[in-house]
Amino acid sequence: MENLLEMRDIGKSYGEDIILSGLSFTLARGMAIAIIGHSGGGKTTLLSIMGLLQKATSGQVRIDGLDIAGLSSAMLAKLRGQYISFVFQRARLINSLTALENVIAPAWFIRRGENLEQQAQALLAHFGLSHRLHHKPQELSLGQLRRISLARALLLKPPILLADEPTNDLDPALAGEVAACLLAARQAGSGVVIVTHDVGLAAQADQTFRLADGALHSVACQ
Ligand SMILES: Nc1ncnc2c1ncn2[C@@H]1O[C@H](COP(=O)(O)OP(=O)(O)O)[C@@H](O)[C@H]1O
Ligand SMILES: [Mg+2]
Repeated sequence: MENLLEMRDIGKSYGEDIILSGLSFTLARGMAIAIIGHSGGGKTTLLSIMGLLQKATSGQVRIDGLDIAGLSSAMLAKLRGQYISFVFQRARLINSLTALENVIAPAWFIRRGENLEQQAQALLAHFGLSHRLHHKPQELSLGQLRRISLARALLLKPPILLADEPTNDLDPALAGEVAACLLAARQAGSGVVIVTHDVGLAAQADQTFRLADGALHSVACQ
């Protein structure tokens, strides 16, 4: 199955509020897709449906060909663990763990036995954080937390990597570094979805869509 993620005719409402409507989307292996759109348009909601954190109100979601309708929450969690990794808008790190431990923790459940510490250190070094390995989240800046969150997602080597405004609040040099790492995940066969306001980043994706009126519209900016 070439398509890691397929969404067909997705609708999502919160009460009376229709957020998504008639939305379709396909993510193939090794592809990076950027999604732009105005604030409040439903981009984060869409990513959370892609990432199996929320259910759509209507429509079909397939992960690697498997229709998720009717799966138990335990099965959904398993599928999420196997396929999906997030870089959230606000890094959700564990306050009692160091930067290095935060990066290793989720991967440890899946790939225990591999030399995760060495790989995590290499990723953090790549992001200029070698001197912050043993600091806790509350001792780190927003930009540092974002990079730790990205290192954590990359260490999982996920088939599907979902990033919500990953370069926000970063200075241009760091934003470029984060963008390069996200896009490089394609070479390992990951499908990458990046919600962004950063037109430079969107231009480097294989395809760009604008989320407007609840659906995705192709943007010819490449
Ligand atoms: N859990 C929720 N309950 C009710 N409304 C929500 C919820 N999450 C998001 N919304 C609303 O859905 C709309 C889209 O939000 P969001 O997906 O965060 O947009 P974006 O990421 O594009 O800024 C907003 O109007 C927001 O207030
Ligand atoms: Mg958002």
